[in-house]
Amino acid sequence: MTEPKGLEGVIAAKSSVSSIEDGVLTYRGYSIDDLTEHTTFEEVLYLLWEGRLPDQAELRTLIKTLSQQATLPPEVVTMLQSVPKDANSMAVLRTAVSMLALFDPDAQNIDVPKAKQAALQLQAKLPAIVAAFARIRSGLAPIEPLPEATVAEQFLYLLRGVRPDHTSIQALDQALILHADHELNASTFAARVTVATLSDVYSGVTSAIGALRGPLHGGANEAVMAMLEEIGSVDRVDAYLEEKLARKEKIMGFGHRVYKDGDPRAKHLKKMSQQLAEQNNDRRWYDMSVRIEEIVSGGKKQLKPNVDFYSASVYTSLGIPRDLFTPLFAISRVSGWTAHIIEQYADNRLIRPRAEYVGPRDQKVKAIVHR
Ligand code: COA
Repeated sequence: MTEPKGLEGVIAAKSSVSSIEDGVLTYRGYSIDDLTEHTTFEEVLYLLWEGRLPDQAELRTLIKTLSQQATLPPEVVTMLQSVPKDANSMAVLRTAVSMLALFDPDAQNIDVPKAKQAALQLQAKLPAIVAAFARIRSGLAPIEPLPEATVAEQFLYLLRGVRPDHTSIQALDQALILHADHELNASTFAARVTVATLSDVYSGVTSAIGALRGPLHGGANEAVMAMLEEIGSVDRVDAYLEEKLARKEKIMGFGHRVYKDGDPRAKHLKKMSQQLAEQNNDRRWYDMSVRIEEIVSGGKKQLKPNVDFYSASVYTSLGIPRDLFTPLFAISRVSGWTAHIIEQYADNRLIRPRAEYVGPRDQKVKAIVHR
């Protein structure tokens, strides 16, 4: 028995949710380029859950239902008010999602129709949790969701307390589409492993949030912004990178386990980052990012930016605090997690691989007094 470290290249599941083939990312057979250009996040949601794009009436119903279900149980709001103001936002989200299960009478029911209802609940409530926590820690009261709004509009409204402008909604909507699913990434795998024991949807999503949090996965977008802030201005990029690369440190937002020729999502985020920079009349983050890309992709390893790299400047231009970047990733990826969870339930087998034992053998226990 042998294993490639990190299961690199191992096919661990069959899935019809999304694919990465020859560097092209598709959801249910549609390229993300096509989806980003011609659909909204809610259409993508429907596609991931139902396997086909919705018609107009189905889309309207979905948007309305999501809006109606965005109100949080008061107990969850009380919990958000009681946690330390400087608590890690992903830890808060993980706790809140786990808590939501206690207020869903069908939480334990894993029949596919019930699992879909739980998916809807989670998709509706995650933006409300993140926005409520952000407001509470700034001394502001959480606000009631709009009766009919897309996820992007609802989140920005719940966060800012005023109706967002069209460009902001559109930029966030595209970012949500681009982060929605990604085949068997670490958090999706964690979700599938959890529910393959026939555990419930909330447990699967709670596991996934825990996996997404790490800096080698969703946490990278925050690390990118921390780097941009540390560098401070475009004229300091070269010296900063020279030092960092000499110390053989990783540059966050570059490289990918699967895409060796570049992440197909990065170009869309780069475009959005530029548009927002121009709209806000503040090109600092965008210009720094472009210079970093030039240096890192032109270096010895020719590393290309991944999805997290330009997300950082996009979210900052949208006025989203840095520590909410990974929760925002979860707001989008919960669509993919739940699509995979539903797929797992529909044709389940316990996921239980083996480990190659490399520890000592033939040990004999010495009586405790002789150790
Ligand atoms: N900065 C500098 N060097 C990097 C790098 C980065 N971001 N990513 C990879 N490398 C280097 C590695 O050090 C390694 O060099 P070596 O062959 O001299 O040892 C080589 O490129 C191969 O990288 P490896 O770590 O084996 O790739 P991986 O498939 O295991 O890792 C990531 C993929 C994503 C974990 C890795 O690229 C990384 O840590 N990136 C930064 C974090 C990030 O942006 N994560 C978000 C992913 S969407």
